[in-house]
Amino acid sequence: MAILKIARMGHPVLAQVARPVADPTAPEIRYLVNDMVETMMDANGAGLAAPQVHIPLRLVIFQAPGERSDPGLAEDEIFDHTAPLTCLVNPEITVLDAATEGGWEGCLSVPGLRGFVERPAHIRYRGFGLDGKLIERTARGFHARVVQHEVDHLDGKLYPSRMGDLSRLIFESEIRHFAKTEEA
Ligand code: NI
Repeated sequence: MAILKIARMGHPVLAQVARPVADPTAPEIRYLVNDMVETMMDANGAGLAAPQVHIPLRLVIFQAPGERSDPGLAEDEIFDHTAPLTCLVNPEITVLDAATEGGWEGCLSVPGLRGFVERPAHIRYRGFGLDGKLIERTARGFHARVVQHEVDHLDGKLYPSRMGDLSRLIFESEIRHFAKTEEA
């Protein structure tokens, strides 16, 4: 296992369309994912896409722990809002309805900044696990956001390009001026 170097905004690997993974069960994919998990944990991130570690393949990891979801959710609503640590190979996203939701995002490739990004609020995603089995889930809230953010990396997109209002691209040390009204 190793902690990998994370590419930062401006590196060409972050701007290209990544290639599909031929075999999700190949040993080298498992080694890569192990290193990506260690790298993400070390950097305290919620997700990481292979291009962020200079590997232009369609593979992401992410987690949506319960503590990141809205505390007002009922027991039967919380399922779509959370996900265990997941590796998704060759992911695809379907937007399920027209509703969008704004939320603050950060990115390990854009260190020190936060941006307020509107995204579809309710999605379905599918992809393959490292065992080659299909993973298919619906997602809302932070779960939907982190998956869309990571899959954007596979198409060469960073979150600032998803922002409509760049006055809300800020240093994370200034988030206190915004968080009360927009993140609560
Ligand atoms: Ni990112």
